[in-house]
Amino acid sequence: MEEVLQRVKSQPLPRHVAIIMDGNGRWAETRGLPRLEGHRAGSESVRSVTRMARKLGVQALTLYAFSAQNWNRPTDEVAALMDLLCEFLKSERTEILEKGIRLHAIGELDRLPRFVRDPLEALRRESSDNREMVLTLALSYGGREELVQVISQLSVRMAQGEFAQGLKEEDVEAALWTRGLPPLDLIIRTSGEQRISNFLLWQMAYAELVFTQEPWPDFREQAFLNCVAEFQLRERRFGLTTTQLK
Ligand code: FPP
Repeated sequence: MEEVLQRVKSQPLPRHVAIIMDGNGRWAETRGLPRLEGHRAGSESVRSVTRMARKLGVQALTLYAFSAQNWNRPTDEVAALMDLLCEFLKSERTEILEKGIRLHAIGELDRLPRFVRDPLEALRRESSDNREMVLTLALSYGGREELVQVISQLSVRMAQGEFAQGLKEEDVEAALWTRGLPPLDLIIRTSGEQRISNFLLWQMAYAELVFTQEPWPDFREQAFLNCVAEFQLRERRFGLTTTQLK
């Protein structure tokens, strides 16, 4: 792995990687385990991948941990996921602070129970000066929900006379929940499904997409490195031709 790590490190890295961590439930079900065990094993992958992203020098890692639509799952699964999040925030606190990681969160955070929101807010504050990498948890997050909020906020400001010269892309960017994060370069989805599921809809405009077969609990350091290596093989044209790029 060390050799691949050095090779990947020596080439241009994605500044911002986002991951749709899919397949926890199926991982558990194929082992005859309750779905919760899949989420628990998935938390281990969160640790491994966060460590590897930081080691590589990725500036921002965003993880789709709970979607706005996930509230409709069975009550006991929602409760178990909230417990796991709370556990994660407590058990990772020291490492996050020691390793210079800034913890951030996006989504409808006021829908989270207090026992998740409080440690989340606390760690966000405590880690706010950290500069090694920003780890963003998307919690009760939906891309459409985010855009609806942006549109309503901007329309109020327009009615008050702002943006008289017309709205620019930068104005929208500045109103997104992801404002301040580097541009999204790479989206990874595990577990074979090839869809976006309401994740970072605006931000993904020029992101490279990588879909992998492993369910999230099996996705560890090596799998993450492979995805970054795959990203490094892509030619990103942003609407230009190959010749123009040269
Ligand atoms: C999708 O798998 C995964 C989720 C809905 C939750 C992701 C949560 C974790 C990885 C653990 C906690 C998170 C952190 C940040 C510690 P699925 O259940 O939809 O899988 P399936 O499609 O196989 O049913």
